[in-house]
Amino acid sequence: MIEGIARLASEAADRISGSASLDDLRHVEGEQLGKRSPLSEYKKLLAGLEPEQRKAVGLALNEVRASLELLVVTRRDELESAELVERFGSERLDLTEVESQGRRGHLHLVTQTHDRLEDVFVGMGFTVAEGPEAETDWYNFEALNFPAGHPARTMYDTLYLNVGEPEGTVLRTHTSPVQIHVMQEQEPPIYSIMPGRVYRRDTADASHMPVFHQIEGLVIDKGITFGDLAGTLEAFTTAYFGGSIHSRLRPSYFPFTEPSAEYDINCIFCEGSGCRTCAQTGWLELGGCGMVHPNVFRAVGYDPEQWSGFAFGFGTDRLSLMRYGIDDIRDMFTNDVRFLEQF
Ligand code: FA5
Repeated sequence: MIEGIARLASEAADRISGSASLDDLRHVEGEQLGKRSPLSEYKKLLAGLEPEQRKAVGLALNEVRASLELLVVTRRDELESAELVERFGSERLDLTEVESQGRRGHLHLVTQTHDRLEDVFVGMGFTVAEGPEAETDWYNFEALNFPAGHPARTMYDTLYLNVGEPEGTVLRTHTSPVQIHVMQEQEPPIYSIMPGRVYRRDTADASHMPVFHQIEGLVIDKGITFGDLAGTLEAFTTAYFGGSIHSRLRPSYFPFTEPSAEYDINCIFCEGSGCRTCAQTGWLELGGCGMVHPNVFRAVGYDPEQWSGFAFGFGTDRLSLMRYGIDDIRDMFTNDVRFLEQF
């Protein structure tokens, strides 16, 4: 009887190891270990055996069942792994297909410009921050020293969102409110740039879009002077446009900086000698800048006696126009692939 059980065990082991799929294994398991299996039939014979023989046969049956059950578990693991590998193989995407069709996309010109600007500023030790595009009146105006009714609010044709209090929430008109978020979230010293999308009720023309992009810069530390602002913008200008292009600052007005200035660079087409793009002036205007106004420091709880700093902000779409000699800002956003794939 023991020999018969051993033969049975070896045949069952071969059947289990040879099962070709999980379905097949389920079938073999029922056949070799189920209620009507030869092993179960042997078990039924135990009752008619002498006690000594019953003990020996019972022990052999238990050992054989335990080893076959273990074999089933091992085989199931193998088959499950094999099925997974096969499934992953069949679901694999051939990403080289896109390239072979010759239609590979690339980053939009505006994104490329922002990436390059970030590289230059990060190389100068700045970090990059972002803020929300929907702002409360307080962040977009009040905290930046434009109290309600301040005439400078008319500098920005504002788009309001119809939520909460009338005229309480705006689509940000510039990236300057991100300065406020950064100052609220961090302790000085701060050396940050803040790129992003901004909105104004401007009619689209060759140099205006109602949705456009700016990059803001903010430096707050002890003893920061207007000289540091001029030096930083000059270092940025030569790093971004090349050593032959320089910057200049002209007096201007922004409520959140005092003194304020316009930031110009040598015309990158004629390098200062005068051409059509720079209206024969030799200079191109990039944006605004100035020393952070004490009222802005007060709005975020900084002591203006302890800290000083500067800010700047310029339009990155117009920067792209200048850099690539594009005549019309609208061309960048009409999504004509023939235009976009040139850059
Ligand atoms: C501002 O928006 C200030 N927040 C800049 C600033 C920051 C000053 C920090 C001082 C300190 P301004 O309104 O001039 O300033 O806009 C900055 C730039 O955005 C402009 O020089 C121009 O390049 C760009 N710009 C303005 N309106 C449009 C428009 N409708 N379409 C495309 N670019 C525009």
